Amino acid sequence: MVQCIINIAQLVNVRTKNILLRGNALQELPILNNAYLVIDKGLIKEYGFMHNLNINQFSEQQVIDAKHATILPCWCDSHTHLVFAATREEEFIDKIKGLSYADIAAKGGGILNSAAKLNVASEEDLYTAALNRLNEVIALGTGAIEIKSGYGLTVEAELKMLRVIKELKNNSPIPIKSTFLGAHTYPEQFKNNHQAYIHAIKNEMLPIIAQENLADYIDVFCEENFFSVNETISICNAGKEYGLKTKIHANQLSISGAVEAGVMLDAVSVDHLEMMNDNAINTLSTSNTIATLLPTAAFFLRMNYAPARNLINKNAAVALASDYNPGSSPSGNMNFVNAISCIQMKMLPEEAINASTINGAYAMELEKQVGSITIGKNANLIFTKQIPSLAYLPYSFGNNLINKVMINGKFI
Ligand code: NIG
Ligand code: FE
Repeated sequence: MVQCIINIAQLVNVRTKNILLRGNALQELPILNNAYLVIDKGLIKEYGFMHNLNINQFSEQQVIDAKHATILPCWCDSHTHLVFAATREEEFIDKIKGLSYADIAAKGGGILNSAAKLNVASEEDLYTAALNRLNEVIALGTGAIEIKSGYGLTVEAELKMLRVIKELKNNSPIPIKSTFLGAHTYPEQFKNNHQAYIHAIKNEMLPIIAQENLADYIDVFCEENFFSVNETISICNAGKEYGLKTKIHANQLSISGAVEAGVMLDAVSVDHLEMMNDNAINTLSTSNTIATLLPTAAFFLRMNYAPARNLINKNAAVALASDYNPGSSPSGNMNFVNAISCIQMKMLPEEAINASTINGAYAMELEKQVGSITIGKNANLIFTKQIPSLAYLPYSFGNNLINKVMINGKFI
């Protein structure tokens, strides 16, 4: 079915070809003012200026009047932990009272707390809760998403999580990428026997994951008291043998060498990057690895933000993601991610939008399908309310400026 959207105030991120944006290019956000957009079978077919549109070729039922809304490609959220069994407000209170993220993890809270709850949850309940969250973030404008395991930490529970993600993939209207994060933390019984857990990852989890096609990527939380750089390299190399490319939780709590390891492993992205030095920034900036920043995690944990300006000025390819998870970012709202990136990391609105759309798509290798207004891509679109300018979106933080979301040419 062909549809024609007319009277679009601004059609944002219109691109004839795909390119991963780095450095100054992140500021360039191509926009068509006073535009139309034609969709055929859920895909973008054509666009142009209203004054060039021959409306007579469409029947009344085919025309959608945008009434001067701005239209953006949906957000591409390339880092989430959307499947979890329970929220963690009690740790939120502990943090208000003064404990740090590392303190909470050290006393058995944090990821281990989530793992204990996930191990006893049924696959059906996990699926239902995750599907609800997925539908919530789609309504907030997310049109492609990556989801990680990592709250199982046993063979059985990691596989359970990944099967839930696979089920979401099968039923979701938006593209989903799945990441195996068995190396999220060491389960209690392996605290003093890292090799045994790594052995389980390599010899018990990965073969079944590959056999059942349960993951696209492998990820490791590379951090002091979590997985060392050498452990990270060895786990990611094992993943590679099964065809899984690397993503790394890098430099969240310390300057650990995780960024350099990620680049060496040819990681698709290294994510977090709150703690960076010149070497980490330079290594990343001259590599093909994407710097994925997760500012709502820094916000929620009251930590320093990643040096977005420095990374962009040094020519890095920056993407933005929500890190949606119960411990460090209990929100998957990419509108807020955009706002906080501008407010706290001094990204320009154009940079934030590019980093949350086309570069986020690249960070999931979904750039052929989503991330820009390009002929042949999915018609996954955000229709804003009437806004005075594009900068008004991050400026007016916390306000809901989305009027409607369209996925594959259908309003949700
Ligand atoms: O990306 N840092 C490691 N993993 C998650 C948080 C996990 C949790 O606290 O449950 C993150 O922030
Ligand atoms: Fe994360």
